[in-house]
Amino acid sequence: MTAQTTLKDRFGRQIEYLRLSVTDQCDLRCSYCIPKGFKDFQQPKEWLNFDEIERIIRAFGALGTRRIRITGGEPLVRHNLAELAGRLSQLAGIEDLSLSTNATRLAKQAAGLQDAGISRINVSLDTLKHDRFKTLTGGKLSKVLEGLMTAKSVGFKPIKINTVALKGINDDEFEDMVEFCIEHDFTLRFIETMPMGSTGRDATDHYLNLQTVKAKLAKRFDLVPGVMPGGGPARYVQVAGTDLRIGFITPISQHFCDTCNRVRLSVDGTLYMCLGQDEQYPLRELLRTGCSDEELQQHIRNAIQLKPERHEFESNPQKIVRFMSKTGG
Ligand code: GTP
Ligand code: 5AD
Ligand code: SF4
Repeated sequence: MTAQTTLKDRFGRQIEYLRLSVTDQCDLRCSYCIPKGFKDFQQPKEWLNFDEIERIIRAFGALGTRRIRITGGEPLVRHNLAELAGRLSQLAGIEDLSLSTNATRLAKQAAGLQDAGISRINVSLDTLKHDRFKTLTGGKLSKVLEGLMTAKSVGFKPIKINTVALKGINDDEFEDMVEFCIEHDFTLRFIETMPMGSTGRDATDHYLNLQTVKAKLAKRFDLVPGVMPGGGPARYVQVAGTDLRIGFITPISQHFCDTCNRVRLSVDGTLYMCLGQDEQYPLRELLRTGCSDEELQQHIRNAIQLKPERHEFESNPQKIVRFMSKTGG
């Protein structure tokens, strides 16, 4: 039986999507995300273990959360992720278990993740040029492409490519990304860069308003209204005559906070109510000091009441000192 959605915030928004960060570490260093040389990651004793994660997700499922997205950092650096995914996919009420990854380790893990019940994968990829990928992330593009092609061959569908649009860095490649995604039957989404942490703020020099990106693409491709399954904030168009959907994630030029349906659980067991605000609610010590399942559900309800109306990325860009990897991208 499907439970009723019962988590509602002060602004009447139904919270039905939990983003679960299983690690704050990553094997890449995208320039807008983790600072180079950063070492102050959470320590293993601070990480929620799989039993604790399962318990929290079970509580969210009982409270009507239908969608869980596993994120990081880079989630595939957490050992035995497929085991965790298998446990979460069995939980009552969880209908949509998905993963956001940089795909560097996907080739080895794709089949196991699919067997474990992950149904959808989103992959971060900002450039198709090998040298540029190295400069932007410190990693190897060939690994990501291998991961993507393996995910496709084991049957993941849809596979969504997430491209952060950066002026002067990758804006000469957007048409190539469109062609690449048509060729491989991927969905393409562009994302506006957000001033999260010092790295995110530095990247605002490269901010691109996606309305202009869309207008430019419309000169080359016939864009018609499009829809795409998913629970996130992207707004889609379709390239006429193809299956390609292009999504635009526009937290700055056209924010979507009034329809926000999500909260985030970080690896240390803190619930973050909004990517762009500080409201948070620590759950880990409650679990470790023996709270009951009923109490846990009540704490989650209390936390949801703290959810702020919206981010302040434009009016107060200095506010968020956490970079994305800490909250769960
Ligand atoms: P779908 O269910 O496939 O629609 O997933 P999604 O788009 O919600 O998830 P994904 O991890 O692919 O998100 C892509 C990017 O969108 C993130 O890395 C963020 O940059 C941005 N994003 C996702 N959710 C939010 C949000 O609630 N607020 C803001 N400001 N940005 C978000
Ligand atoms: N602005 C926008 N998106 C970001 N991400 C990380 N940092 C930022 C930022 N400052 C997101 C991107 C990327 C994923 C790893 O995290 O979606 O694909
Ligand atoms: Fe939701 Fe905050 Fe993202 Fe706005 S910025 S969509 S309120 S998480």
